[in-house]
Amino acid sequence: NESVLIAPSVLSADFTRLGEELESIANADLVHYDVMDGHFVPNLSFGTEILRQAKAATKLPLDVHLMVTNPEEQVPWYLEAGADVVTFHYEAQTHADRLVGLIHDAGAKACVALNPGTPVVALDAILDELDMVLVMTVNPGFGGQSFIPGSIGKLRALRRMCAEHGVSPLVEVDGGIGADNVGEVVAAGANVIVAGSKVFKAADHAAAIEELRRNGAM
Ligand code: DX5
Ligand code: ZN
Repeated sequence: NESVLIAPSVLSADFTRLGEELESIANADLVHYDVMDGHFVPNLSFGTEILRQAKAATKLPLDVHLMVTNPEEQVPWYLEAGADVVTFHYEAQTHADRLVGLIHDAGAKACVALNPGTPVVALDAILDELDMVLVMTVNPGFGGQSFIPGSIGKLRALRRMCAEHGVSPLVEVDGGIGADNVGEVVAAGANVIVAGSKVFKAADHAAAIEELRRNGAM
């Protein structure tokens, strides 16, 4: 009975009450923090100052998902602001290996994200260095989108690749996940579940987290 980690995305929180929103998800495992720069994705969210404030307002580790161009410039800002896990997009950078090293040197966990259109083989050369892989299950940019069904085959392909390499990084899924499909993604290989709208638009956030945890247990 292996348990999954639940990472609510504060992108769907009420920003005018961020402290209370963070308290309401204290039973989660991570706080997922979506940084959007208006270039890599067609939307803007929040940056380092709000991360710093969030860090002071929760005991949970901060899982920072950088949907930004030129992450090499920005990763140090987020490490300094308190990120515990830093995710950059494979599609957004040139020196993935160097960037992973920089994250590790700062004592944080390193994760690379793949857009739905990027095959898992893109990670073949750096897979062994990664603490986590993020398989996007929607095209990044907005909360509340529908899960892309092709993600299931991709999760299975990632698990095969990990087995060939003899490694077992965490596998995170992000976008369109709820109580109805969490079991399916976990069965295909995911063990870190991001959920934005399904947690923060629920009447009881803690109960929504427990439901994801229950339905994701295998
Ligand atoms: C999408 C973000 C997600 C988003 C997920 O670009 O990376 O983390 O908040 O939201 P839901 O769970 O509503 O699809
Ligand atoms: Zn995200």
